Amino acid sequence: MVPKISTLGGYIFEYQKSVTNPTGFWSNIAESFYWRKKWDHVLDWDFRSGYTNWFHGAKLNLTENIFERHLFFRGNQPAIIWEPNDPSETHRTLTYSELFTEVQRFSNVLKGLGIKKGDRVAIYLPMVPELVIALLACARIGAVHSVIFAGFSAQSLGERLQDAGAKLLITSDGGFRGSKTIPIKQIADDAMNMCKCVSTAIVLKRTGESIPMVDGRDHWYHDLMKDAGDTCEAEEMDSEDPLFILYTSGSTGKPKGLVHTTGGYMVYTAYTFKNVFQYGDGDVYFCSADIGWITGHSYLVYGPLLSGATSLMFEGVPTWPDAGRFWDIIDKHKVNQFYTAPTAIRSLMALGMDWLQNKSLATLKVLGTVGEPINEAAWHWYHDHIGKNRCPIVDTWWQTETGGIMISPMAGITPTKPSYATMPLMGIQPMIVDQNGKQLMGNSVEGNLCIGYPWPGMARTIWGDHERFVNTYFTTYPGLYFTGDGVKRDEDGYYRILGRVDDVINVSGHRLGTAEIENAINEHPLVDESAVVGFSHPIKGQGIYAYVVCTHFSTGGEEGIRNSIMMAVSTMIGPFAKPDKIQIVTGLPKTRSGKIMRRILLKIAEGKTSEFGDITTLLDPEIVNDIVKGAKEV
Ligand code: PRX
Repeated sequence: MVPKISTLGGYIFEYQKSVTNPTGFWSNIAESFYWRKKWDHVLDWDFRSGYTNWFHGAKLNLTENIFERHLFFRGNQPAIIWEPNDPSETHRTLTYSELFTEVQRFSNVLKGLGIKKGDRVAIYLPMVPELVIALLACARIGAVHSVIFAGFSAQSLGERLQDAGAKLLITSDGGFRGSKTIPIKQIADDAMNMCKCVSTAIVLKRTGESIPMVDGRDHWYHDLMKDAGDTCEAEEMDSEDPLFILYTSGSTGKPKGLVHTTGGYMVYTAYTFKNVFQYGDGDVYFCSADIGWITGHSYLVYGPLLSGATSLMFEGVPTWPDAGRFWDIIDKHKVNQFYTAPTAIRSLMALGMDWLQNKSLATLKVLGTVGEPINEAAWHWYHDHIGKNRCPIVDTWWQTETGGIMISPMAGITPTKPSYATMPLMGIQPMIVDQNGKQLMGNSVEGNLCIGYPWPGMARTIWGDHERFVNTYFTTYPGLYFTGDGVKRDEDGYYRILGRVDDVINVSGHRLGTAEIENAINEHPLVDESAVVGFSHPIKGQGIYAYVVCTHFSTGGEEGIRNSIMMAVSTMIGPFAKPDKIQIVTGLPKTRSGKIMRRILLKIAEGKTSEFGDITTLLDPEIVNDIVKGAKEV
């Protein structure tokens, strides 16, 4: 059994142990799992070359730690409860033994289609149980899964398929999201036509739309599963064999395929899940994140299932058929722990208290948030009206790169403070550094957040580009992992995340690189250049503000060009990356060396009309006044 801390004193004691003797600490936690062969030694690392190896030489299969390890006691316990988009459709429950059978059958399907250990399998599916089955079947046979969020466009999907060198794609005819039906297969077809590597597709029937199937390439999921055998021996994996690739945006260039490996990720997600949420036997845990993002990987699928938990997954959106949907689900399935994003809380808060009428929410014990800073008003609303003043809130800070939660309260143990992620979890050594890389010691300091020592759940590389991994995370502050976030450590030693300090913006908890959006906008034939910044948005946390230079207009004028830019971004990235504001400008504030002075654009996007600091180095300082004037009309 993975140990669970239950008092503040216990946390302080264990934390001390975990940082004074990290290898002793983690090997002790790892003892709770089933390994086919134990490690020769616990950790090898060198942050300068971005090399980390946990549980060196150990052999295991992660799915044996979900199924074989739990079946005897939990065979009949629900592993997954699936709540469909439409509340009138019947929900589904898969017990640990039912899920195991499905996973083994699908493992046999994949093997039958020629998928072997190390092959990459891409998954582009809505939030249905088959998504979990697909992930675990890959892990069972040693294939590396790469889930691409089903809101991404064909272009984005195609680029990711190509980058990962995926051989097979698992997708569906369509998907339901609120009142919308998404043409998933059509997008997948376009993406597969763009890339050269995918030779096989498995298509799940979800919406029943009629869709074209490509002979020899496309196979129906249900046809393949009919004839598949019920048992499949797990592949033996090295602790450091890749488990999955997950793409995320950075400040420059294309999205990065972060690689997470097997042993360390298993130990870290299970340990942090149990401790942060204080999950207890029989609890029902509901994480509202999509499995297309890291939160869904680590805290809907792996962490909970490795802990023998009952994990609830939801296909739909919080506002359909009405804004009480989350609360109905919590009451219907007697949810004990609920984990969501601040954006969802803010949008439901803005819709008023009527949607909470007649909702009991009495089973809730713990509330969690993730993905972006939570403002105090939203924290209090969540605490008072959802948690009824009795449920601790765990504001969990972490990243795709970290694999698991890094700084967070442990529910009911760490005293909380609104908008603070509070204290580091076991083994995590946060450091605050200034612009020059000097470590800021003591309390009441603010700077850039780095981590000084490896933890088992961290990403090991960027798929196909280790140099980029090193340059992105380990060169800004040599010897430290740089998170890209600003942070404050207050007078009590509590951590408050201040947001990104690089050109990454966080829109409704979706992480987007400004360069990525600019590239999409610049594809538009009438656009000369563009600059994108984030601005404070009351619901989304950050909105997208695009300054666009166009010297020619088509017949639709400015409005026409705005609409077609929206379309271009939707097509290149996905609808969730559409700018909230587009300002057509005659030029951008550039220095004589051609560098865009983003701080000015950031200020204008926040509504400032003066106090831009020294602008004398600009090639054309007048442009600033023009942009300020134009901003009023956006
Ligand atoms: O800026 C931080 C913000 O989300 C970024 C990571 O995004 P992503 O890789 O998509 O993973 C999101 C889910 C783990 C971070 O660099 N972030 C995440 N959690 C918090 C947060 N900002 C403030 N408070 C948090 N609790």
